Amino acid sequence: MTTLTQKHKKIERSITLLAVLSLVTVAIGGIVEIAPLFWIDNTVEEVDGVRPYSPLELAGRNIYIREGCYSCHSQMIRPFRDEVDRYGHYSLAAESMYDHPFQWGSKRTGPDLARVGGRYSDEWHVQHLIDPRQVVPESIMPPYAFLAKKELKPGDMSDHLRALSRLGVPYSKEAIAKANEDLLTQVDPMADSTDLEARYPKVQIRDFDGNPDKLTEMDALVAYLQMIGTLVDFEAGEAQEQPR
Ligand code: HEC
Repeated sequence: MTTLTQKHKKIERSITLLAVLSLVTVAIGGIVEIAPLFWIDNTVEEVDGVRPYSPLELAGRNIYIREGCYSCHSQMIRPFRDEVDRYGHYSLAAESMYDHPFQWGSKRTGPDLARVGGRYSDEWHVQHLIDPRQVVPESIMPPYAFLAKKELKPGDMSDHLRALSRLGVPYSKEAIAKANEDLLTQVDPMADSTDLEARYPKVQIRDFDGNPDKLTEMDALVAYLQMIGTLVDFEAGEAQEQPR
């Protein structure tokens, strides 16, 4: 018997020694994986176009979370051929860097929504949310008709923006102060939207629910759905991840 196997025999026969040495081995592996994260600035590379949500989009996102849409819909396109063919460009980490909590989801009873923005008209979304079977006869999605009647009462949007900014979302002081104003500007095509557009590039300004007289939860949810996945311009060549 060689000395090596003899030594190994010693380890295998002492449960304490085996446990201690296993722990040391696993700890080395763990440190190698985890320690670098404390020294690199950033694990998500920034991508041009990604910006924080506008107050109206954020109100819509809050409704999306409240209604549990994530229990049937994911928002993360994996980099596989079948997914990319069906849903569009695979999701980049940066596209959800301002999501707290993220909406990647873990179950797809319905389709992935990571690039649903701009795929359908506002009218389609409103009809579909009021009565999914009217537009997709075989749909098993529940109806959300009440959203079209329910007045949007988001509370003080400044608080929502402030909470996110504490988590690292770069909302300026001005954006936080003007949050309620910005929310109303986004559904009013007649309002002066210069500041809103400067703060939130590519922001879509219109009445979203087909009822300009009333600001409803439907307005906010459709505004959110119509912007998901639209911020990065994949047409202009491969989106460049910008290392800092
Ligand atoms: C019980 C599961 C379920 C829940 C909950 C659910 N959906 Fe769906 N959803 C589906 C299914 C199934 C489809 C595919 C059939 C259809 O288009 O209606 C779908 C389709 C969709 C589509 C069309 C996607 C596409 O690319 O064609 C959108 C948009 C959508 N859902 C939004 C929502 C929103 C917003 C909520 C929350 C208010 C929600 N869904 C809640 C199951 C669900």
